Amino acid sequence: MSTTSEVSAKPEAQGREVGVAILGHGTVGSEVRRLMEENAQDFAHRIGGPLALRGVAVSNPTKHSRTVPEELLFDDAMELIARDDVDVVVEVIGGIDYPRQLVLAALNAGKSVVTANKALVAAHADELAEAADKAGVDLYFEAAVAAAIPVVGMLRRSLAGDQVERISGIVNGTTNFILDAMDNTGASYDNMLAEATRLGYAEADPTADVEGHDAASKAAILASLGFYTRVNFSDVHCEGITGITADDIEAAKNAGYTIKLLAVCERITDAEGTESVSARVHPTLVRRDHPLASVSGSYNAVFVEAEAAGRLMFYGNGAGGNPTASAVLGDLVGAARNKVHGGRAPEENTYASLPLADFSVVPTRYYINMRVRDRAGVLAELSAICAKHGISLRTVRQEEAEEGARLILFTHTASEGDLATTVKELEAFEDVLAINSVIRLAE
Ligand code: HSE
Repeated sequence: MSTTSEVSAKPEAQGREVGVAILGHGTVGSEVRRLMEENAQDFAHRIGGPLALRGVAVSNPTKHSRTVPEELLFDDAMELIARDDVDVVVEVIGGIDYPRQLVLAALNAGKSVVTANKALVAAHADELAEAADKAGVDLYFEAAVAAAIPVVGMLRRSLAGDQVERISGIVNGTTNFILDAMDNTGASYDNMLAEATRLGYAEADPTADVEGHDAASKAAILASLGFYTRVNFSDVHCEGITGITADDIEAAKNAGYTIKLLAVCERITDAEGTESVSARVHPTLVRRDHPLASVSGSYNAVFVEAEAAGRLMFYGNGAGGNPTASAVLGDLVGAARNKVHGGRAPEENTYASLPLADFSVVPTRYYINMRVRDRAGVLAELSAICAKHGISLRTVRQEEAEEGARLILFTHTASEGDLATTVKELEAFEDVLAINSVIRLAE
């Protein structure tokens, strides 16, 4: 069995001790443990009682024996969770299946849980929320979206008195780094992905980032909170950045835009006044004078439009050991306060249960980059195809190309379905040599 590492507090922090178990001791877990020890006095005052680390669960204890006292290292996470003196479990392992078992075991045993695991929350939110409700404990996950940027708490608490209309976020640092570097240098996607890997922004397998899956998990969480409606990872329409070319970046620049991978969560109201929720992740042309366009490098930002608050933007580091640990510790202080003083954090409330919008009804605008035969009448014929589907063109730019002419079209707003059908028809038209790319524009 393990002993307990206790932290002393000034006399006025007299509340009961709160036992903490940390599951995982990687970049985030080790920072959480270090900062918890370093700031023990302050945390005791903020909570009203001291935090006591009961143990750190890791798969290979020997690897961590230089930084964690041996008696606090556990190779059996379930054993640590089950201890009577553990009140709050911090899950910073990552993955889905194994953490799901651990988090459910903790909640079912009446422990509050703080997790940084976006994939877990986005895939199993209902099950986890139900277990937390049944046990009357807290489930916190601020670090799951954009690390230290306080967007979860903002939606759960600060905007609980408002009506959120749209959330547009740059919530993946790796892809923002790549797109920003392409914008700055004119280089190709492959070259800038290699640069992101060399600098340690992109993982050895960058799939989850560049295909948009990481951002889609975060979009699901933001949409669920913003619209009081359960949105899961599988409900989010997701497209990554692998098809973005230097040519697209250049064309966007010439038209006054930059390309960002946006997570867009939106309340859609149809002509009959029926509301639905759309959550999607895709490359998006953002006007250069929009606040999100200035988010450079690996930074994250979340732009919220709410009925009474108007427009708000939250900006900062969306990943990394320290920023993620900051969010985890904020949640830990909240969960510990409730253990000392009673009460619960605002639970996940999905009372509105709005239907999920079919992707084809989402209003959007398209940028279409295509190559066409350079002969009289082609433009008129292309315009006729657009008009047939109710698509109005906002700007058309033609340039010479090696073969034929390059056309850059910007449409006015139409439904995703009508725009997609139009592109299919353009693609099949004999004078269209190639549709190079189609990218949506932010409203
Ligand atoms: N890989 C993510 C990013 C951080 O690049 O922002 C963790 O979600």
